[in-house]
Amino acid sequence: MSVSSKVVLVTGGARRIGARIVSRFHGAGYRVVIHCNASMDEARELEYRLNQVRGESAVVISQDLADPEQLSKIVEYAISTFGRLDCLVNNASIFYPTSLSDLDARLINQFMDINLKAPLLLSREAAEAMNKGAIINIVDIYGENPLAGYLLYSVSKAALQMLTRGLALELAPDIRVNGVSPGAILWPEDTAEMSEQEKEELLGDLPMGRLGEPDDIAKAAFFLAEDAGFVTGQVLSVDGGQSVA
Ligand SMILES: NC(=O)c1ccc[n+]([C@@H]2O[C@H](COP(=O)([O-])OP(=O)(O)OC[C@H]3O[C@@H](n4cnc5c(N)ncnc54)[C@H](OP(=O)(O)O)[C@@H]3O)[C@@H](O)[C@H]2O)c1
Repeated sequence: MSVSSKVVLVTGGARRIGARIVSRFHGAGYRVVIHCNASMDEARELEYRLNQVRGESAVVISQDLADPEQLSKIVEYAISTFGRLDCLVNNASIFYPTSLSDLDARLINQFMDINLKAPLLLSREAAEAMNKGAIINIVDIYGENPLAGYLLYSVSKAALQMLTRGLALELAPDIRVNGVSPGAILWPEDTAEMSEQEKEELLGDLPMGRLGEPDDIAKAAFFLAEDAGFVTGQVLSVDGGQSVA
């Protein structure tokens, strides 16, 4: 099937890595559904830019992924707008430190709802709506080896990794499910912001000695969706060697 008629839905697609994934799929001919939560202005700007390139090729839907009751609206919107769905990229996530002494049921639920439950329920909705297609989960190398001080984040990404493998079995043969595990790509913002010293230390530990680019993740996601027809249940680390160091 020609890429030009295909549709991708990217969660958290308004900015940073998600926006790059949206742009790469769009650049290859996909029509794109940009999901966002708070970043409506950035999402609308991206939608406008992409529609200037190709008319009626990009739309935005805003939805808080913490509310599982509302998740079906996202896939429904993709189908009602473009009439089909070929690829779901579960990119949205929360990332901030959680010390063992401070965590409570509310925090645990928040991480699990956004980083695990939403990808699971969206994948189920998307799979029902697709004939054939691909699901890509954006995991993290810290889902393999935990990041100190980020227990809930690490646990949620480990579970997302298992979800990727388990869903691949559940949804074969028509839907392939794979993951991309980024290493250090963009410095975190807000509550997870790092000091200059922490950044220097981290860079010193990276075999390739530098951060990756958002497009490294976008290219890997696109490869798994389009060019890896016999690959399912795999998680590809894109980390400049960090996970083997
Ligand atoms: N940055 C890195 O170097 C790095 C490293 C390893 C793994 N990763 C993974 O790669 C992916 C993208 O990373 P990133 O740094 O670009 O992510 P990010 O900026 O931290 O978050 C991506 C998006 O998630 C959305 N999101 C958060 N909470 C949400 C909620 N309750 N409902 C709906 N959407 C919500 C936000 O959308 P709005 O802005 O619209 O609210 C946000 O823009 C994530 O899965 C991350 O875990 C990133």
